[in-house]
Amino acid sequence: MDNRAIGVFDSGLGGLTVVKELMKQLPNESIVYFGDTARIPYGTRSPQMVAKYSAQCIRFLMRHNIKMIIIACNTVSSCCLDTLQNLFDLPIIGVISPGAKAAVKTTKNGRVGVIGTRGTINSGAYEKEINKLNKDINVISTACSLFVPIVEEGWFNTDVAYLTAKRYLDIMKKEDIDTLVLGCTHYPLLTDTITKVMGPNTILVNPAEGTAAQVKEILSNNDMLRDKFVGHAEYKYYVSDFGQKFKQIGSRFLNYDIEYAEKIDIEMY
Ligand code: DGL
Repeated sequence: MDNRAIGVFDSGLGGLTVVKELMKQLPNESIVYFGDTARIPYGTRSPQMVAKYSAQCIRFLMRHNIKMIIIACNTVSSCCLDTLQNLFDLPIIGVISPGAKAAVKTTKNGRVGVIGTRGTINSGAYEKEINKLNKDINVISTACSLFVPIVEEGWFNTDVAYLTAKRYLDIMKKEDIDTLVLGCTHYPLLTDTITKVMGPNTILVNPAEGTAAQVKEILSNNDMLRDKFVGHAEYKYYVSDFGQKFKQIGSRFLNYDIEYAEKIDIEMY
């Protein structure tokens, strides 16, 4: 047994899509979440800058008695998972490999679309991972840079979201994909809109599901699950700016009241 919490971070509230899955699949685990809302977006920054920011996020989380780190951000996972794993002495997992595995399992016609930030798409991380598992799968990728600000604004299910999605996803429709990987943790908040644009024949893959399943496997195999008898799981949220907005939009999405999101100075770590 290991009663310490799981540390999770993202550049903003997108990582809550991973928290939601963790709460579902591992309801007994405590979570410490950090959203780097002062420095979002990560997706348009250089890999060096993203690595520097991420190392600060991990150092901050490590102050909170955690047993592992989940990088709930595709941009970070695609550019610096190895660097961060080499830098810190605790289990660190990203979201790309679980997302790729799910896509390979899902596709029937061997045509998979991947959408993400510019950083994730430029890294080619999903193509590499998917083609490592099955070299015959065709991967069609496109960056949807405006999705992140739309989500951070809380504008899910609006006409702005719909028109933006239509413009970005036209290419995916033409490419006859049957599977679309939501390769940015913010995008599952736009699931309804993306489904409306893509139609019922495209299956959306949310890498958060596979990521939570992988966390469960790691904790079970290493006897690191939290003891059920020590009380309810605890959730703590930290941000680097604007805690109130994070709290409101996050609570709406999680269907769970985020009572407090504490603002911290991430530059100190
Ligand atoms: N949620 C992050 C991801 O999964 C991206 C948001 C950002 O650009 O910072 O890539």
